[in-house]
Amino acid sequence: MKKYSIADIKKLKEGKKPFVTLTAYDYPTAKIINKLNIPLILVGDSASMVVYGYKDTTPICMDEILLVTKAVERGINTSLIVGDMPFMSYQPSVEEAIKNAGRFIKEGQVDAVKLEGGREYINQVKEIVTAGIPVMGHVGLKPQSVLIESGYKIQGKNSDSALNIYKDAIALQDAGVFALVLEGVPSELAEIITQTLKIPTIGIGAGKNCDGQIQVLHDLIGFFGPEIPKHAKAYLNLQDDLKNSINAYISDVENNIFPNENNFIKMNKNELKDLKIKIENL
Ligand code: KIV
Repeated sequence: MKKYSIADIKKLKEGKKPFVTLTAYDYPTAKIINKLNIPLILVGDSASMVVYGYKDTTPICMDEILLVTKAVERGINTSLIVGDMPFMSYQPSVEEAIKNAGRFIKEGQVDAVKLEGGREYINQVKEIVTAGIPVMGHVGLKPQSVLIESGYKIQGKNSDSALNIYKDAIALQDAGVFALVLEGVPSELAEIITQTLKIPTIGIGAGKNCDGQIQVLHDLIGFFGPEIPKHAKAYLNLQDDLKNSINAYISDVENNIFPNENNFIKMNKNELKDLKIKIENL
């Protein structure tokens, strides 16, 4: 399997079937994903919650996301890898944005970065692209705005708000983004944007009519919760499976079932006899 390039991702716009993208945060999962021919993997700032246990995506910092990014990168040589720029890594200034996007490329060895926002951060997007770093956009529900929005709110429900998102999408395309995440918007708006743009749209909570879909891995495998968001579907309940496995281990140890003869070695009888004599003579 050859590695997906930015040009390959852009071509997915012409595909007949929607394409799949996914988040990843560690090496063993990355190695599994690597065999599944997934065009794009995002090392999401959702790591803030699902890896580090913070309450939302605002606390995670560059060093923390770079740590998981490096682990994912070591396990993937087929998908295009996108690093998600954390809150306050690009908002303060264009210079900060270029510097931190550069850290993703040089230290995290990713192929591109993603940042949340539209026209308010258009200079950041343009200058990162000018510096030679591909950027993926993200509009609609922007999880990094959780504090100012007092929660996670679907965006674009009325015509004014929808028009703003539409204009942001066009501005981002003009600024050079290679793909655009549409999160938490009505499916009709996602469809209009998808039909208008020449770059692929990737939906999460944005309906069926995007060019591709993205999901947080932990939602898909039931590894975070107790509940999963409305836009997600759990294909596995890993939390229950883990709990059951750990309980089985506890029971085996307490009942002397584990470890058994297959799990350890025994000493040669003569060596054991000699050892006992040597201990006695100490
Ligand atoms: O951080 C993340 O996981 C994301 C995706 C859900 C798009 O931004």
